Amino acid sequence: MTHFPILRLRRLRYNPRIRDMVRETYIHKNDLIYPLFVCPGNGVKKEVKSMPGVYQMSVDVLVEECKEVRDLGIPAVILFGIPEHKDEMGSEAYDPHGIVQRAIRAIKKEVKDLVIITDVCMCEYTSHGHCGLLKGDEILNDETLEVLAKEAITHVEAGADIVAPSDMMDGRVAAIRKALDSKSYTKTPIMSYAVKYASGYYGPFRDAAESAPAFGDRRSHQMDIANGDEAMREAKSDIDEGADIIMVKPAGPYLDIIRRVKTEFQMPTAAYQVSGEYSMIKAAGKLGWIDEERIMMESLISIKRAGADLILTYFAKDVAKILV
Ligand code: PBG
Ligand code: ZN
Repeated sequence: MTHFPILRLRRLRYNPRIRDMVRETYIHKNDLIYPLFVCPGNGVKKEVKSMPGVYQMSVDVLVEECKEVRDLGIPAVILFGIPEHKDEMGSEAYDPHGIVQRAIRAIKKEVKDLVIITDVCMCEYTSHGHCGLLKGDEILNDETLEVLAKEAITHVEAGADIVAPSDMMDGRVAAIRKALDSKSYTKTPIMSYAVKYASGYYGPFRDAAESAPAFGDRRSHQMDIANGDEAMREAKSDIDEGADIIMVKPAGPYLDIIRRVKTEFQMPTAAYQVSGEYSMIKAAGKLGWIDEERIMMESLISIKRAGADLILTYFAKDVAKILV
């Protein structure tokens, strides 16, 4: 082992070109997945109050947005739906003519070369805002698996390329894989929200998707924020059930978990930089307290350096513009 004065780590830092040469981590456009919110109506583009630069869009506006996303070189979007009607059963989630299903068909018709991922969960569609079917105050596990599988099938029938279950019910990856295979959709990948914490960072998303629970919280299915070993068990069970890509969510506050999952399983690993992570950077940037663009890049490079192959981020378009 060499030591100072032979060893001088600053030698590679004086010249900016040399710094470029020894840089280890890069963000590439192919790493990016852009979340989009689709709502009923025509010509609707409504900014989400707590998420500057993020909009609820009707299908017609969404199609144009998807063209722009594709033209920026971003390979994929993930769709969230705000339905016309919510009910106890969340029935629009698995309606073949539901908001997301219509959006997928419209995008597929007009935008080539864009991967459509769909979020598979019930909370945007249920009147109570919970991620599954209820009996009293309890979120039923096994009964929910059936509706999630139905939801996933209607997404794929409409043209979705990848389905992404975010509900955190036990056994949902197996249930969805089995349902897809029974309809001969054996080639459609599942990107599972394998390690999803019960996080306060989802606050602004619930404005965007209008999906806040009417009572209680999500702690009976999402993970305790204090647990790391349990994250390994969650990831393993989803891989065993057939997940093709596994996700850790949130991203920035859970870099240790991203690294552990990547090292342990060597799977294609996605990380979701969630609404609260985005909104905090935006807010501090607006106040002039931080350099927004610099912190945006730093947050994303850190997620990549931790081990993420893919990043779901509301900054995707802003980053892609810089990378042009
Ligand atoms: C649906 C879902 C949520 C997010 C993604 N899918 C909300 C939640 O679990 O409450 C959060 C995304 C974000 O905060 O940006 N289950
Ligand atoms: Zn949910």
